[in-house]
Amino acid sequence: MYTHLELRDSTRPPVSLATLDKMKRDGEKIASITCYDASFGVLVDAAGADVVLVGDSLGMVLQGHDTTVPVTMDEMVYHCRATARGIHRPLLMADLPFASFPTKEIALANSVRLMQEGGAEIVKLESGSGQFEIVEFLASHDIAVCAHLGLKPQSVHKTGGFRVQGRAVDAATQMLSNAKSLEAAGADIILLECIPSDLGARITQALAVPVIGIGAGPDTDGQILVLYDVLDITTGRKPRFVRNFMDGASSNLDALQRYVRAVKDRTYPAPEHCF
Ligand code: KIV
Repeated sequence: MYTHLELRDSTRPPVSLATLDKMKRDGEKIASITCYDASFGVLVDAAGADVVLVGDSLGMVLQGHDTTVPVTMDEMVYHCRATARGIHRPLLMADLPFASFPTKEIALANSVRLMQEGGAEIVKLESGSGQFEIVEFLASHDIAVCAHLGLKPQSVHKTGGFRVQGRAVDAATQMLSNAKSLEAAGADIILLECIPSDLGARITQALAVPVIGIGAGPDTDGQILVLYDVLDITTGRKPRFVRNFMDGASSNLDALQRYVRAVKDRTYPAPEHCF
């Protein structure tokens, strides 16, 4: 009936950006996963996840929408606050949802909501050259920022669907250049979604900040997956990078521990999960 907070290992110090920087330098892979509530928060913490993202993917996996576009700021704050109650050690990241960062001032106000009302420690925004100034502004206000490049689900109506990005030479060069500019603007983490593995490796090598990938190959500093994909709760056609960690697992916690272990020992992602 109740969420068992004591499952979490509260003897390990909380993960900070400095922890992630050290992991990058030491070559220890960063295991990240999405989460949307306190009960799963306890499990992902107990499993040893380093970063927990309250992703706007909740619009698809919790709310049943076809895209992340309908998700609102109030919904993000609600799920972030619930997740924050469940976790102790992982760094808590939250998405700025669709159209919540049209100007730097609005981006700041909404980031403050995610942090003060939701308990987020770092905000993530889908980024490109149009967001350099916003990232710089957030960083200058001491907001930790993750810039999301590659496949940007909030843009699917504009870009024409969920497709691998950065395959063409020009697009790859542009993404590498954007990643460098976002780092220079103050981004603390770069997240790469659905890009060829060699581009994931190039961007990771070019940056000092940690790079976390989802469908971006084995060479990024860390991996992230959607919780409901790891636990095989989602139905229908799965993206190539998804692996069902419930296969052979005795419980949800066991599956989550298998995921964290597979990221750390580099058995996930395997070649069949990469582009
Ligand atoms: O919203 C989300 O879950 C994400 C991940 C796919 C990285 O952005």
